[in-house]
Amino acid sequence: MYVIAHLSDPHLDGSEEARSRLRRITSYVRSSSVDVVLVSGDLADHGLEAEYAELAGELTFDVPVLVLPGNHDVSAPLRAGLAALVDSPGDGHPIHQVREVGIARFVLLDSTVPGAGHGLLSDKSFAWLDGVLREPFDGPVFVAMHHPPLALHHPVMDQWMLEEQGALAEVLSGKPITAILTGHVHNAIVTSFAGHTVRGAPGIRSTIPLPFEPPTAPTGSVVDPTAHPGLAFHVHVDSEPLQTVYRYPR
Ligand SMILES: [Fe+2]
Ligand SMILES: [Fe+2]
Repeated sequence: MYVIAHLSDPHLDGSEEARSRLRRITSYVRSSSVDVVLVSGDLADHGLEAEYAELAGELTFDVPVLVLPGNHDVSAPLRAGLAALVDSPGDGHPIHQVREVGIARFVLLDSTVPGAGHGLLSDKSFAWLDGVLREPFDGPVFVAMHHPPLALHHPVMDQWMLEEQGALAEVLSGKPITAILTGHVHNAIVTSFAGHTVRGAPGIRSTIPLPFEPPTAPTGSVVDPTAHPGLAFHVHVDSEPLQTVYRYPR
């Protein structure tokens, strides 16, 4: 059994509120038995080096930790502040990574556009991704990225979703991928894309209520900052479908 603790969107900003919500999750993960911790973006709220320094102090586990950028992150300070957790050539954007942890391979895609909320991959990134996914690998392969390839059907959030999804589908179709792991929408979300399962982690900092739900977000905001922070555990067992459980620790 191989267990991924999948965290997303801590949006650390120096506040006690953001820190304590992240600690509710990290302390639960430390008390669990997992093989790897993945944090799928919006690590810092303003992309400041001080925020990444704070995060580096919080993401301390006795298993490997993988991080990737979200639209609130900024490449250079992220690389500087989380140097021990990032393994990506270059010194700017994008921060693509291929990491192997135990039996699994993680393709960590940078789906961000500097200064923008929506996601978009360049032709160069598509070519890189295609090449990586064609490399033979004997084990589960997870493609992780901040922006999920879907429409949320939320009048505000949908302007910040992943663009050019058709081009991504062309690259991912038929490739040996165990699951696509995502963040950004601050909701535990399960769907499929290009023939692969998509598993999104809940937002640690907040939750985004959907239009068909009770309006729990304060007036003028898309996020409910009082909803419980949560995480996903993805459980891989050879020759079985991937199982995901969601937890909202007290
Ligand atoms: Fe976020
Ligand atoms: Fe985001």
